Amino acid sequence: MRAVAMDAYGEPEALAVREHPDPKVGPDSVLVRVRAASINPVDYKIAQGYLDGAFPVLWPLVPGWDVAGEVVGVGPAVSGFAEGQQVFGYARMDHVGTGTWAELVSVPVRCLAPAPQSLDAVAASCLPLAGLTAWQALVDVLAVGEGETVLVHAATGGVGSLAVQIARARGARVVGTCSDRNADYLRSLGGEPVAYGDGMPDRVRALAPDGVDAVLDLVGGDALEASPGLLRSPGRLVSIVDADGVKARGGTYVFVRPDAAQLGELARLADAGRLVPNVQSTHPLDDVAAAVTEAVSGVRGKVVLTV
Ligand SMILES: NC(=O)c1ccc[n+]([C@@H]2O[C@H](COP(=O)([O-])OP(=O)(O)OC[C@H]3O[C@@H](n4cnc5c(N)ncnc54)[C@H](OP(=O)(O)O)[C@@H]3O)[C@@H](O)[C@H]2O)c1
Repeated sequence: MRAVAMDAYGEPEALAVREHPDPKVGPDSVLVRVRAASINPVDYKIAQGYLDGAFPVLWPLVPGWDVAGEVVGVGPAVSGFAEGQQVFGYARMDHVGTGTWAELVSVPVRCLAPAPQSLDAVAASCLPLAGLTAWQALVDVLAVGEGETVLVHAATGGVGSLAVQIARARGARVVGTCSDRNADYLRSLGGEPVAYGDGMPDRVRALAPDGVDAVLDLVGGDALEASPGLLRSPGRLVSIVDADGVKARGGTYVFVRPDAAQLGELARLADAGRLVPNVQSTHPLDDVAAAVTEAVSGVRGKVVLTV
């Protein structure tokens, strides 16, 4: 098959497609013909070597954790998936290097679900990693419910835009920080925009004078620092970027894990029109260097590789 395969860590411009051995399909895995793979910040952090201490690495390293595509093979212990089926998944194993920026990827069933029927592969590939992160923070940890107010720091990024929609679907009010250029987009998702930077805590208090019920921090730094003082009562604070910082403030660090049942929840929300991914651009796999360069530059929506 053809894949983005790296012999050493490198910057986006070093990424290139070449011939690579087809994946092995384990007993409880599904072979997926990749149609689309959205780019997440963690992908280029892995390509640059920033997660070297966190996971065993198989070289040559093929990056990519999000996938949407078609089942072209199943392992002998697999039930519930069949050739020709459209699937989407968060193909995160306990190692890195056998990723989705390829024509084929072998995905354990715990990482995979039937794709939303209402989305094409490009849009579906934007949901798994970012959507599961938002779900696990908002539902599993913060248990955000009807009538509550949740503050989302970085509310219009890949994770934030899905978190706002999930919280709204659960009946919560959402106050979100974003730059001015993204304020209307946040309003279109049902969130109430607050500019980040100097004075942000006062602007949040102006909208929620009694404090917010829960905070989801997707950016760290000053946003995390200010968060305990914006909560109505302590503890309902999650960060996905600063493990030590959030724990020191009585909150919880979330690192997204694969969950097939929750992928099903995301698909149901998408098919109900409650969860709409924001696709910025698509690039053929061969243009991976340009695609990652664009993603790193801080565009609002997802940049997606098509295969
Ligand atoms: N722990 C986990 O499991 C996990 C999972 C997913 C992602 N992450 C991490 O979480 C972070 C966000 O991921 P993502 O995919 O959402 O990234 P993204 O799509 O690149 O979005 C980043 C967002 O941050 C906003 N931003 C920048 N500075 C800000 C500030 N000071 N206050 C508020 N917003 C600010 C930007 O908004 P503007 O354009 O409006 O400035 C942008 O929308 C990344 O560091 C990623 O690696 C962790």
